This record gives sequence, structure tokens and C-alpha cells, in this order.
Amino acid sequence: MNILFLILFQIFTLNAFATTLSSPEIKVYRNPTCNCCHKWINHLEENKFNVVDLLTTNMTQVKEAVKLPKQMTSCHTAIIEGYIIEGHVPANDIRRLLAEKPDIAGLSVPKMPVGTPGMEVGTRKDNFIVFQFDHDGHYGVFNQYQIDEHNEYQTSP
Ligand code: CU
Ligand code: CU
Repeated sequence: MNILFLILFQIFTLNAFATTLSSPEIKVYRNPTCNCCHKWINHLEENKFNVVDLLTTNMTQVKEAVKLPKQMTSCHTAIIEGYIIEGHVPANDIRRLLAEKPDIAGLSVPKMPVGTPGMEVGTRKDNFIVFQFDHDGHYGVFNQYQIDEHNEYQTSP
């Protein structure tokens, strides 16, 4: 094996290794009294996100500061790589957002549907939509979660 090839090979394997280890940093603004927000943070950490937990009693101010569209409002507000993540958005959707980097302001699961990460209540699961939004009042479906006959979520991005 020639030496250049060997060096290149090592660079690529090191890169791959670094990518596997990297855990993206996400700032989460939440009210300390909100228990479901804390459970969502646990979900992110289980999925290898590096969470910066920021407590505030004025979530309205946070949502205004990031210009969150009113219809997208949920409990906590997070920021990752310039994107807003509002409410109980599953980690997989955030991963996909970071991989695809679409020209949007962020993702939201408005309100707090039962069955979303951090909003588990027994075996009940509600269908829900992960919306994508921009700051000009445009919304779209980023992913849909629908219950199948086995009470499992099926997604259709
Ligand atoms: Cu919540
Ligand atoms: Cu929350």
C-alpha cells in the first residue's frame, strides 16, 4: 500500500469516527415548572444531542424574540444550528433537518399532542404533524405520524 493512500485512508476513517461521535448542541428554553419539557430533553439526550438547558419563567418573551409564528406555539423553544425547534419534535426529524438543511425557519409540533416524545400518557397515541415554517407565514408538512393497527406510529415525510 503506498504511503499517500494510507494517509488518506486514515483521514477518512478519522473523519467518519468524529462524525459518529459528534453530538449537535441544542439550546432549550423552558419553564422550570414544566415537566414534559424535561422529558423531551431526556429524549434528546437519549438520542445523543448535547442539550444546553436554559430555564426561564418568561417563555412568551423567548417566542417573541425568535419571531415564532403564533400558530406554531407549544411549550419549550429550542435553537439548533440557527433553526427553531418548537415543542415535542422527535429527534429523528431534527436529525433530518440538520442533514437536509432546508431554507426554513424551523420545525414545530404545535400544542402538545399525546404520544409525542415527552408527552407519553399510557398507551394513548394521537396522530400528529411536524410542521415546517418560515417567518412569512408559510407552513408545510415536514413529517406525519399516524397510528397503525398495532398502535405504532408510521411516518410519511
Ligand atoms: Cu410540553
Ligand atoms: Cu416543553
